[in-house]
Amino acid sequence: MRIGVIHGPNLNLLGSREVEIYGTVSLAEIDRRLAERAEGRGVRLISLQSNHEGALVEFVQAQTSAVDGWLVNAAGYTHTSVALRDALAATELPVVEVHLSNILAREPFRRDSLLAPIALGVVAGFGARSYLLGLDALTDHLNGSV
Ligand code: DQA
Repeated sequence: MRIGVIHGPNLNLLGSREVEIYGTVSLAEIDRRLAERAEGRGVRLISLQSNHEGALVEFVQAQTSAVDGWLVNAAGYTHTSVALRDALAATELPVVEVHLSNILAREPFRRDSLLAPIALGVVAGFGARSYLLGLDALTDHLNGSV
């Protein structure tokens, strides 16, 4: 099984960016923890972090036939990107949306996600653990586990 992992804008700054909200774990450490979890589950990850909407859309298009599902923290694009939503929807593959912070408990503009309606589910508010929980949920779904 292969999972496409998408990290949106500013997540390259994790570890030093608004640590009171996003914590002190870097993106490299999140990727390391994800890789460890994936290996234990026999899953291969194909990941991209980009600050550019078009690059994320092109990644989705380019990797569609190479993956079985998507683990997505679209960061700010969660709330704005029709293009990324359309790209993911076009793949007809399961999407699990994750966020470090609980977006429902923050500013009103973060409470809307354009991705959530096309997602299998959303994991938010558990810091770096949101990614691991999301990966587990997605792989369980793809494996048909209940
Ligand atoms: C985020 C929440 C978004 O609202 C924000 O723009 C981010 C990170 C999170 O993981 O909590 O950049 O996706």
